[in-house]
Amino acid sequence: MHFSTLMISTLAMVMKAFAQSSNDVCEKDLTASSQADLDKISGCETFKGDIILSSPIASAVLNGVEKIEGSFTANNITTLSSIAAPQLTEIENNLDLRILESLTSASFPALTTVGNINFITMNKIDGIDFAAGVSKASSVIISDTSLKTLKGLDFENLQLLNINNNKYLTAMDFSLKSVNELDISSTANNVEINLPFLTTAHNMTFRDAKTINIANVSQVNSTLSFVNTSVSSISVPKLSSIEGSLAIVSNHDLTNVSFPKLTQIGGGFQVANNSKLEKLSGFPELETVGGAIEFIGSFEDADLPKLDTVRGGVVVESNSEDFNCSSWNELNDDNGIRGDSYQCKGASISTSVAIDTATQPARTSGAESTDEATSTSSAGAAQLVGVESTSVFGAVLLFLVSMI
Ligand SMILES: *[C@@H]1O[C@H](CO)[C@@H](O)[C@H](O)[C@H]1NC(C)=O
Ligand SMILES: *[C@@H]1O[C@H](CO)[C@@H](O)[C@H](O)[C@H]1NC(C)=O
Ligand SMILES: *[C@@H]1O[C@H](CO)[C@@H](O)[C@H](O)[C@H]1NC(C)=O
Ligand SMILES: *[C@@H]1O[C@H](CO)[C@@H](O)[C@H](O)[C@H]1NC(C)=O
Ligand SMILES: *[C@@H]1O[C@H](CO)[C@@H](O)[C@H](O)[C@H]1NC(C)=O
Ligand SMILES: *[C@@H]1O[C@H](CO)[C@@H](O)[C@H](O)[C@H]1NC(C)=O
Ligand SMILES: *[C@@H]1O[C@H](CO)[C@@H](O)[C@H](O)[C@H]1NC(C)=O
Ligand SMILES: *[C@@H]1O[C@H](CO)[C@@H](O)[C@H](O)[C@H]1NC(C)=O
Repeated sequence: MHFSTLMISTLAMVMKAFAQSSNDVCEKDLTASSQADLDKISGCETFKGDIILSSPIASAVLNGVEKIEGSFTANNITTLSSIAAPQLTEIENNLDLRILESLTSASFPALTTVGNINFITMNKIDGIDFAAGVSKASSVIISDTSLKTLKGLDFENLQLLNINNNKYLTAMDFSLKSVNELDISSTANNVEINLPFLTTAHNMTFRDAKTINIANVSQVNSTLSFVNTSVSSISVPKLSSIEGSLAIVSNHDLTNVSFPKLTQIGGGFQVANNSKLEKLSGFPELETVGGAIEFIGSFEDADLPKLDTVRGGVVVESNSEDFNCSSWNELNDDNGIRGDSYQCKGASISTSVAIDTATQPARTSGAESTDEATSTSSAGAAQLVGVESTSVFGAVLLFLVSMI
């Protein structure tokens, strides 16, 4: 009895192995234009190759496959309205869905591990079923979709998170702890971005957000920018150093900026066109700026009480009557500005200094002019004014590139 059971099960194993080895459908790329094509691989627990959906498939169900050692892709298929992979737990390379204008349903309820997720140009889908939660991925790009939610993307570490032009997305809650490159922007709707667990990031850009919670970020080793958002407050209470640049540009509802622990910015520091920002007092500990400073707006005060070194030039311009240049003049008098120009302008005052870097640090020569109406701008300042007149985004990029 025991013996025959063993025989039978051994026989079954041999047969299965034989079936799999002769059955190399499990080991070569599959282009599936019908459900029948997909059914041919339903015996492949592990599929070694790429699965590529193609026209005129309408409804694709990947039964049986638990792991794809390759990619799963669907690109530019007008007929495709639904995709399901009920048993699939892992995709080694890419889950790539793009230009799927009829897709209304996508279901990956068992999926936990993916190389790269690309969801690009899908304008009929509300959500994707990731019931088990994708906890491991390398990069995620979600662009130009009608997704209303990104539930189930539960990874903690990512190389790249790029979410742009998803105009129905109103909330983003991620359990992400670290990310190398993060770029979040939408277009029409304002989005609430919640990254409460994020502690380290390489390069972060936020555009078009209503709220941004990055309260746990303590280290940014490249650039951090907030551009054209509608946030009223930016608060990064634990951040102590930004190795690249910091840019806060064209945030028209912004009234409060708070970086209480920030001591150094490795690159440039730009605060411009935040029309409601009256005080730039949120940098009480900032000591050094490795690039240039450009502050333009209608702020009353822009005192950085601990700032002692700016390695680039400085442009501070406010059209507020209450603004004065005294703290900046003091910094300049103390040789704190190492770049080749310093310019400070208020509604009724203007100081412009061309700094002769050749004589630094014992700077004695330097054409200084204090003028009621116009300022004589140095070459460095003129360059910055030129940057200002390009588009907001271009200006930020130019700034980030030129000031690092
Ligand atoms: C999508 O496929 C159509 C033909 O079905 C083709 O004309 C079009 O150029 C394709 N678009 C892209 C972006 O590949
Ligand atoms: C930051 O990320 C953006 C795209 O998200 C990229 O274009 C830029 O080059 C990156 N900058 C740095 C300094 O890594
Ligand atoms: C912030 O990070 C610390 C560890 O640095 C962690 O203990 C804490 O739970 C985090 N807070 C949130 C809200 O995630
Ligand atoms: C920034 O940190 C990431 C890891 O978070 C690392 O891969 C990258 O090399 C670092 N870049 C710099 C410029 O230090
Ligand atoms: C800023 O955001 C608004 C929508 O909030 C958009 O219409 C405008 O084009 C954006 N401007 C830039 C320069 O991105
Ligand atoms: C600005 O934000 C900080 C931190 O969130 C807060 O402590 C402070 O009271 C706010 N200031 C104003 C004027 O809202
Ligand atoms: C300049 O403005 C600061 C506040 O930003 C104020 O404390 C100081 O008294 C002002 N100095 C002059 C000369 O008006
Ligand atoms: C500030 O806004 C003005 C007009 O709205 C625009 O011309 C200029 O390019 C903007 N500057 C920056 C640095 O974004």
